[in-house]
Amino acid sequence: MSGVVVVGTQWGDEGKGKITDFLAAKADMIVRFQGGNNAGHTIKFDGKKFALHLIPSGIFRKDAKNILANGMVINPKAFFEELSMLQEQGVTDFQLFVSDRAHIILPYHIALDQMLESMKEQSKKVGTTNKGIGPCYTDKAMRIGIRVIDFINEERFFQKLKQNVEYHNKVLTAFNFQTFDAVEIFDEYKSYAKKMAPYVANTSKMINDAFHANKDVLFEGAQGALLCLDHGTYPYVTSSSPTASSVPLNTGISPQKITDIVGVTKAYSTRVGSGFFATNFDDEVANTIRVKGNEFGTTTGRPRRIGWLDLVILKHTVNISGLTGLSVMLLDVLSGLNELKICTSYTLDGKEIDEVPASIEDYERCTPNYETLPGFKEDITNVTSFEQLPREAKNYLKRIEELLGIPIVIFSVGPDRTQTIVLKEMM
Ligand code: GDP
Ligand code: IMO
Ligand code: MG
Repeated sequence: MSGVVVVGTQWGDEGKGKITDFLAAKADMIVRFQGGNNAGHTIKFDGKKFALHLIPSGIFRKDAKNILANGMVINPKAFFEELSMLQEQGVTDFQLFVSDRAHIILPYHIALDQMLESMKEQSKKVGTTNKGIGPCYTDKAMRIGIRVIDFINEERFFQKLKQNVEYHNKVLTAFNFQTFDAVEIFDEYKSYAKKMAPYVANTSKMINDAFHANKDVLFEGAQGALLCLDHGTYPYVTSSSPTASSVPLNTGISPQKITDIVGVTKAYSTRVGSGFFATNFDDEVANTIRVKGNEFGTTTGRPRRIGWLDLVILKHTVNISGLTGLSVMLLDVLSGLNELKICTSYTLDGKEIDEVPASIEDYERCTPNYETLPGFKEDITNVTSFEQLPREAKNYLKRIEELLGIPIVIFSVGPDRTQTIVLKEMM
């Protein structure tokens, strides 16, 4: 039995999809536990490329069960669009389940997401993915949300929808935004509900039954630790917790079932959307990294901002997620650079600190302190072992391990499934 968690350690897009797909080869069950179609997980194998937003990255493993757990917010239209995309690309043999307790994203959530962003002055905009994530989680916390179990019951769905539309229309009207018609939404969405019903299950029980039967379960995080609603760079965060600590709550299992927690990190940093990050830089080197690493959002296509690897951030993630190992991605992108920088602390108002300040205003005044290592020139995209790496690349990885105090369990030298080197088996 194993319960392996894959989480992002930075601001998302670290390569969680690639690692989940890779590890899924040995898993009996793959569980997405938070977020919704704000995520964009890219997977490449056999010359094919897939972008998943809601569906777990274990979907290509036909013998494994894939679950959208209770902590997720699900846009039914996006769910079926994604299923069609998979089917069109020949992925038809899979096992997929949706939690009866997950929440449903409806059109007014997306309008509210847009409204809230448009009301903020430019520098205060979160730069959300505009998928209605925040408003849907808000409804959940306000105890007015529509859960999957209600969604697939026509009568209950219509009743709750009517009340919600009435309430949200008042808010939308107050700010001169277009309102919604409950009957119109119902007429369109009842067909999605009917189609979704066969996928619906008590997924907490399923996962617990799998553990009792000694199965191997993989939990796939979306976003990254610094986008965590509690421990991230608030308010420039998402509306769920993308940490390993949120897995038990968001899936309905005991924390004791978790055996390994893999933090996925890029060999550098990126951020899409708004919000400060200390190691952000924008020059020719950053542009080289952006182009070589194809650093454009999977969900929105926005160019990602680039920065050096930040160990203050990674140490924060080791703490809040209890990482037992690190998976270092996109190492190949760094080849050809003269030097590699690692941020080891910040300076805030003349004082050296090694933590992420709680206030965004304080964080914005932090400047990074770097350790500089020599870069490597060789193309490493065909490397299949640690030993084959150039000396400078080995030293870079060793220094990260040393500073963080956790082992690197995987490193990646290209987007393809085969360009993955495992240093420690977990399942
Ligand atoms: P996720 O959201 O964490 O799943 O990550 P994304 O899929 O949004 O972004 C990661 C990007 O890096 C994708 O385009 C991947 O195909 C790509 N990628 C993953 N690992 C590697 C790697 O080792 N090298 C290179 N060059 N690209 C990688
Ligand atoms: P994956 O799973 C990168 C960012 C948005 C925005 C903030 C809030 O692919 O790593 P939201 O729509 O969630 O309310 O937006 O969070 N964001 C992501 N950035 N990768 C993601 O997911 C993200 N999901 C949300 O850009 O800054
Ligand atoms: Mg992504």
